[in-house]
Amino acid sequence: MKRKTKLIHGGISEDPATGAVSFPIYQVSTYKQEGVGGHKGYEYSRTGNPTRNALEVLIKDIEGGSAGFAFGSGMAAITAVMMLFNSGDHVILTDDVYGGTFRVMTKVLNRVGIDSTFVDTSNIENIKDAIRPTTKAIYIETPTNPLLKITDIEAAAKIAKENHLLTIVDNTFSTPYWQNPLELGADIVLHSATKYIGGHSDVVAGLVVVNNDKLAEELHFVQNSTGGVLGPQDSWLLIRGIKTLGIRMEETEANTKAIVEFLQGHSKVEKVFYPGLESHPNHAIAKKQARGFGGMVSFDVGSAEKADQILSKINYFTLAESLGAVESLISVPARMTHASIPTERRAELGITDGLVRISVGLEDVEDLIEDLAQALE
Ligand SMILES: Cc1ncc(COP(=O)(O)O)c(C=O)c1O
Repeated sequence: MKRKTKLIHGGISEDPATGAVSFPIYQVSTYKQEGVGGHKGYEYSRTGNPTRNALEVLIKDIEGGSAGFAFGSGMAAITAVMMLFNSGDHVILTDDVYGGTFRVMTKVLNRVGIDSTFVDTSNIENIKDAIRPTTKAIYIETPTNPLLKITDIEAAAKIAKENHLLTIVDNTFSTPYWQNPLELGADIVLHSATKYIGGHSDVVAGLVVVNNDKLAEELHFVQNSTGGVLGPQDSWLLIRGIKTLGIRMEETEANTKAIVEFLQGHSKVEKVFYPGLESHPNHAIAKKQARGFGGMVSFDVGSAEKADQILSKINYFTLAESLGAVESLISVPARMTHASIPTERRAELGITDGLVRISVGLEDVEDLIEDLAQALE
């Protein structure tokens, strides 16, 4: 099955009981048992729900893994994955991970003894140097948010295997349509499905896919024990979103390329960050491991004042956190998504006050470019 077909016909795409072509929303918490333990595969919806299961099988199919898991948010998914580790274990992470990932590692999971080190994983040598006897995993976000840095997943997974570590990839920005980390050697891939997978700014969710039965069993144990599961309505919304993921990503990419070209030629834009640019330091790796470059672009206009001027004039880009929706969104990472990262650390990473991030949507690109042009003037 090719990729767009799999988005529509993968997983459990219809209801076997009725033939309904849209999988039903099983809005239910518990299930009748004919005798003690005599159930039809479902006992209680934290443990398993048919609609959530349909989504979990679908995401497993499109990421090419052995089992999928749906959570109430991307952060719940990330936390559940980290709960595979024990007190005293150490994880190496990409230095400009999503601010919430940095926060949960350094302000929550540190309290239960899970240590973390943040390094620029786009330079593979940094990963090697950070490995300790207690290291258990390498956690990569690629492309990163908001600087669009790229890590070579295959190279990182090779180091991980040599050192008996797990490779975990946050694939939110690329989506399974463009990039499949498990095929590149990763063990676990996860998503903030709130973004492109849902795609319509109407659901908060997280998805995880693992590549073997042992990890599947362990993660299901954590999911059922800690309980951060996705509800049936939201599971259904994600199944619906996934059906159009392919065409949305193709169209987003086409719009983004035109916008990047416009921004590059603009005198008020100091720097454009986009992995599809040949001048991007990791362009060759991006091209090797992903089939597309995505719809996220960051550009530096030099100061917070100039960024604010753009925000006050822009019309079609909605000022909002989040990304990956049909509507174009704009944000200033230093004061929004990455505000939880200390100022000095933001400076080290290059997340400047004049950095503007856009998530390109599906409007007519002529309108989007005209809007950016008037806001930049
Ligand atoms: C790359 C990335 N990972 C994880 C998350 C967290 O996901 P959620 O907001 O669904 O909890 C986000 C949210 O913005 C993100 O951008």
